[in-house]
Amino acid sequence: MKTPPQLQALIDDGVIDEVLRPLKSGKEAAVYVVRSGDEIRCAKVYKDMAQRSFQQRVQYQEGRKVRGSREARAIGKASKYGRRQQEAAWKNTEVDALYQLRGAGVRVPEPFGYFHGVLVMELVTDAEGYSAARLGEVELDAAQARRFHAVLVQQVKLMLCCGLVHGDLSPYNVLVGPDGPVVIDFPQVVSAGGNNAARAMLLRDVNNLTAWLGRSAPELFETWYGEEMWERFQAGDLQPDSVLSGKFTPDLRAVDLDGVREAINDAREEALIRQQGREAAEEDD
Ligand SMILES: Nc1ncnc2c1ncn2[C@@H]1O[C@H](COP(=O)(O)OP(=O)(O)OP(=O)(O)O)[C@@H](O)[C@H]1O
Ligand SMILES: [Mg+2]
Repeated sequence: MKTPPQLQALIDDGVIDEVLRPLKSGKEAAVYVVRSGDEIRCAKVYKDMAQRSFQQRVQYQEGRKVRGSREARAIGKASKYGRRQQEAAWKNTEVDALYQLRGAGVRVPEPFGYFHGVLVMELVTDAEGYSAARLGEVELDAAQARRFHAVLVQQVKLMLCCGLVHGDLSPYNVLVGPDGPVVIDFPQVVSAGGNNAARAMLLRDVNNLTAWLGRSAPELFETWYGEEMWERFQAGDLQPDSVLSGKFTPDLRAVDLDGVREAINDAREEALIRQQGREAAEEDD
């Protein structure tokens, strides 16, 4: 195919040899299948800030470490320089997270680097070598749904042990590889310690997965893994090998239970609306 202009510099530098085909163009990025020597990989080209919602990022940016005080001030002011820095920080965040999480044994695509604003990473495939389906596109039986849920809760726990919350985890940011689910799409990842919304994001992430997989295995609706792991994380008692029960007894003195239930139902509803939106967008493609 004709090389998209954003990928030409990677060819010129010898990072990739050829662009084979477009894989998917989402609202925030376009992903291409590329060849580097004998290897088939994928390249994620981020869309310009103007094409994405700027405000929606603000919540995510909170608590993210930024190098240098000029950079921090600039981001605060959202000056032109600031916007450029923020744009760069947002793109860098994904590759940084992939290296960190991969190093911690989380099931994410292997990163091969970040070049000219483009992330080059492992192409996740199915058993036949075709690019992997997203979790939201496959039908699972109850046993598979339970297994996937367990693996995904484990990934969320490992991420939290790294001090990170995905922040946009949904059945559309999980790929179905031959040996289980792989988590993708990290530009909005947040620091668990430094962000006031981290707990809410973690609970939403886990709920999105539970809401989807619970359709095949309804007993999953009775689990409370997000609440449980957050409480243990807060207490300094969460390790990669911590065994979670999915049971959780809220502190009734401090918690408004109806409010918790309501927030969970809201999250489920939101997941459903997002899913329908995506399906509608897909039909438009
Ligand atoms: N490493 C990968 N291997 C295989 N497919 C991938 C990989 N990364 C991304 N994809 C495909 O490209 C799509 C878009 O990637 P990603 O979710 O990272 O970007 P996005 O623009 O944020 O997408 P969206 O807005 O749809 O969430 C994914 O849903 C998936 O189908
Ligand atoms: Mg995505």
